[in-house]
Amino acid sequence: MGYFITFEGVEGCGKTTQIKLLSEHLSGRGISTTLTREPGGCPIADKIRSILLDAENRALSPLAELMLYAAARAQHVTEVIAPALTAGKIVLCDRFCDATLAYQSFGRGIDRDVIDTLNRQACQGMVPNLTVLVDCDPRIGLERARRRIEASSGPREERFELEALAFHQRVRDGYRSLADAEPDRFVIIDGSDTIEAIFTAISTQVLTRIPEALRAVC
Ligand code: TMP
Repeated sequence: MGYFITFEGVEGCGKTTQIKLLSEHLSGRGISTTLTREPGGCPIADKIRSILLDAENRALSPLAELMLYAAARAQHVTEVIAPALTAGKIVLCDRFCDATLAYQSFGRGIDRDVIDTLNRQACQGMVPNLTVLVDCDPRIGLERARRRIEASSGPREERFELEALAFHQRVRDGYRSLADAEPDRFVIIDGSDTIEAIFTAISTQVLTRIPEALRAVC
């Protein structure tokens, strides 16, 4: 079995920049990784992503939203994550099942048991070995995310950026309580620092945790 690392955090926390830097850094050391993301990561899940993030779909009900995330995950785990981990690879995934707890349970208020059940089915036993939580004040994160959306020429993936600040605050608090409940799996990184400082903190943590055997064979 390989090694599974997930990145989590509120909008604009910088995790997507950091996961790419980490992938490049590991590859520079001869350690190859499978870099992927949720929602998405494979063609069918990417189609579900465009429904989920389209700002025109504001009428999407919380339960329909939850089930679309679960559907995208089931496909992504089947097509990408499970095969890569079974082949002994290091998988870096930008968001995974903790995002569903933070956004759909803490954020939207859906019963946690329902989400745990769906996550268990969709994850098919693939549990992250390490989760990097890039913790950031949502006011700072949302400002960064809005600047990124304005500068982008692609589809406007902003359904969540349009949510109230209080929603993003619940998501942040949710992530922190998930991290507190599983201190061995989570590492909390201060996302208000510079890109370079955040990267140093993350790469140090990751390199000490990746099993020696995987560093050698990848
Ligand atoms: P991204 O901005 O990191 O690409 O994530 C897309 C959005 O989807 C982000 O606003 C968080 C949200 N999301 C959920 O609400 N639940 C989930 O399970 C996942 C994976 C993401």
